[in-house]
Amino acid sequence: MKPKILVARAVFPETIAYLSQHFDVETNPSDEAWTGAQLVEHLRDKDGAFTTGSVRIDDEVLAACPKLKICANMAVGYNNFDIDAMSARGVLGTNTPDVLTETTADFGFALLMATARRLTESEHYLRAGKWNKWSYDMFAGSDIHGATLGILGMGRIGQGIAKRGAYGFGMKVIYHNRSRLDAAMEAECKARYVSKEELLKTADHLVLVLPYSAASHHSIGAAELAQMKPTATLVNIARGGIVDDAALAQALCEKRIAAAGLDVFEGEPKVHADLLTVPNVVLTPHIASSSVPTRKAMAKLAADNLIEFFSKGRGLTPLNPQVLKA
Ligand code: GLV
Repeated sequence: MKPKILVARAVFPETIAYLSQHFDVETNPSDEAWTGAQLVEHLRDKDGAFTTGSVRIDDEVLAACPKLKICANMAVGYNNFDIDAMSARGVLGTNTPDVLTETTADFGFALLMATARRLTESEHYLRAGKWNKWSYDMFAGSDIHGATLGILGMGRIGQGIAKRGAYGFGMKVIYHNRSRLDAAMEAECKARYVSKEELLKTADHLVLVLPYSAASHHSIGAAELAQMKPTATLVNIARGGIVDDAALAQALCEKRIAAAGLDVFEGEPKVHADLLTVPNVVLTPHIASSSVPTRKAMAKLAADNLIEFFSKGRGLTPLNPQVLKA
């Protein structure tokens, strides 16, 4: 008998076809964002789950699904998993690193450029039929080339953004991270390690790429925003909750920083009401990894993790490999 798996959100038909060669697959054809109780109704009799970052796997869900042995997340971030609870119950978690690095770094840079050069604000103006003459300061933004690029969180995606800035745009790159990169990697990224305080004070453009955890919750709040230059832009492609969105909305309203570009939000898909009305912010719906080839590669890697686990007893990109030894 094939193992039973749940694909908890809609995914490419080719991924379902691939999984169906190996598993007895239940899908979520209407792509509903299930509550925990609804998820349990479908997951209760399953051996494995294919999840996305919007599917919360916590101890309550795990307790109600005792057959579950693996959750394969189609995302590099995995703050939707209570990984300690999964480890305690012997459930493997896997994610999709590497395959999305360059695509996500591209998007971080696109959001930075759109924000600094006021792309969406000016487009809305044009679409609204308000453009009737050239003006010397029309939507004047800030430069990217030659500016100081600050990166908070210097993992693979942060490094990709650093290289784009340094090599493509002649930017001076500074970064802060829990641990400093080795000298060879710093040289490759042309990036200089600084304290968080110096990063906040010095960056012309600050990009957030750190993972979400209790420790990184509200890493950027009112106090941090107050340290930034009034001309600075802030870009968040990391996770909602890393920025205090209410404090950011207020800082943007009061022009205490120039602009922000946000792909992720606290409590998404809800967005803080003030962020929806303030003009100096570019908003996108959590799409940084969303190119067709990359989303397909992420889906394939999540599927391959399930296949590897049920055929060979291991994961390709395990988050808690200790459960395999146990
Ligand atoms: C997207 O946000 C991811 O973590 O892959």
